[in-house]
Amino acid sequence: MSAKEFQTFLEQYPAYAQTESIDLLRKKDYARLDAGEHIYLDYTGGGLYAESQIEKHQKLLSENVFGNPHSSNPTSQAATHLVEGAREHILKFFNADPNEYLAIFTSNASGALKLIGESYPFASGRYLLTFDNHNSVNGIREFAHARGGEVTYIPVMLPDMRVDASQLNLELARPAQTGHNLFAYPAQSNFSSVKHPLEWIELAHSYGWDVLLDAAAFVPTSKLDLSVVHPDFVPVSFYKIFGYPTGLGALIARKSALAKLHRPWFAGGTITVASVQGDKYYLADGAPAFEDGTLDYLNIPAVEIGLKHIEAIGYDVISERVKTLTGWLLQNLTAMKHASGERLVRLFGPNSSEGRGGAVTVNFYDQHGQAFDHRFIESEANKVNISLRTGCFCNPGAGEVALEISRVELDVCFTSPTHHDKMTIDDFRLCIDGKSSGAVRISIGMVTNFNDVQAFLAFARGLLK
Ligand SMILES: Cc1ncc(COP(=O)(O)O)c(C=O)c1O
Repeated sequence: MSAKEFQTFLEQYPAYAQTESIDLLRKKDYARLDAGEHIYLDYTGGGLYAESQIEKHQKLLSENVFGNPHSSNPTSQAATHLVEGAREHILKFFNADPNEYLAIFTSNASGALKLIGESYPFASGRYLLTFDNHNSVNGIREFAHARGGEVTYIPVMLPDMRVDASQLNLELARPAQTGHNLFAYPAQSNFSSVKHPLEWIELAHSYGWDVLLDAAAFVPTSKLDLSVVHPDFVPVSFYKIFGYPTGLGALIARKSALAKLHRPWFAGGTITVASVQGDKYYLADGAPAFEDGTLDYLNIPAVEIGLKHIEAIGYDVISERVKTLTGWLLQNLTAMKHASGERLVRLFGPNSSEGRGGAVTVNFYDQHGQAFDHRFIESEANKVNISLRTGCFCNPGAGEVALEISRVELDVCFTSPTHHDKMTIDDFRLCIDGKSSGAVRISIGMVTNFNDVQAFLAFARGLLK
């Protein structure tokens, strides 16, 4: 790292100096990053765990005996105690009133989204969602279609990839009168990193919509305060916030909204009574009605350890860290030009660190203005141990807008007889001949430092001709 550049950075982003505690933490708790010379820039894909989280979890497991929480024996009670403690801590972490909200354990954010999709009463209702959504939110439309609900998408617009607010207002103002209405959007885009306004929640409520706020990409670096905003359904994945454990997420849901859901089946753990001869079952109250089978009771205590780890660092520090480094990355990357005058990158999303998170999504261009294939950029980055993400990041709506793939092109592609039942990603690339099928996402997270960003900028500079 050049001391002069760091000085310039600090002059332009003085708030970075207040996040020094993260540098100390990184030395102690994330030493493997520097020991392995990793430049990790895929925090939207997955957060990183602190070594101390693993130690605390391992100690807990090695010093105790935990049994299946579906009993009342001592080892079962010990597990129940930790599971319920973690559940309470999740609500506390998001400042959610336990009289208003419940935390349901799921395997990840997608598991939480599927619970909503399969149980929401879409018949004669509407499912309204933004183009900018993860596929696990898009996938809910299949449940809506199957039950006769109307599905409507609200576009996002280049170059910032924010939503057309007038169109959103129009749609929100016309909920179905006879059915239920569900509006879904991400608090932060996993494609462009746009933070969509949380004010939409109350606007949608005022017209009678239930609101699904996908917080999976937002909560790793921003505080979600459920005493200030009151979305009905909030899916999250814990590994995205603190790296470990994987395989656990939650659906944080308002009790009033949960009461509208109809689970399509029952399973072990979800009922009070089920009868074979009587052909009848009674669902349990609250979260257990949505938790199929045995909970991941040995890993759930690690969620509480992870939440405490984030609390000890503080969202103010994390957000400031991400904001300052993102500002520097944006400013330097978007300024790079080939000798021919052609720009090195085209940015998809906001070109300032305001109203956005730490993922910077771009495509790279050569000196003639020809796009580099995103797979080439990834393979070049791999050679210098930079971990980034390429493709469409499971967000096809944002991808189609960013890459200017039109509805007509997609219709031609999907109605071709050869694509009736099956399509590979290579078939899709042929369909959109000449256009890029993906982009490159560089995402800054909690323990990113100035060196990481400088290493990426040096890599990018190496592509200049
Ligand atoms: C915004 C958003 N929603 C949902 C998900 C799905 O998360 P998971 O794969 O952990 O279920 C992701 C994952 O990248 C995401 O970024």
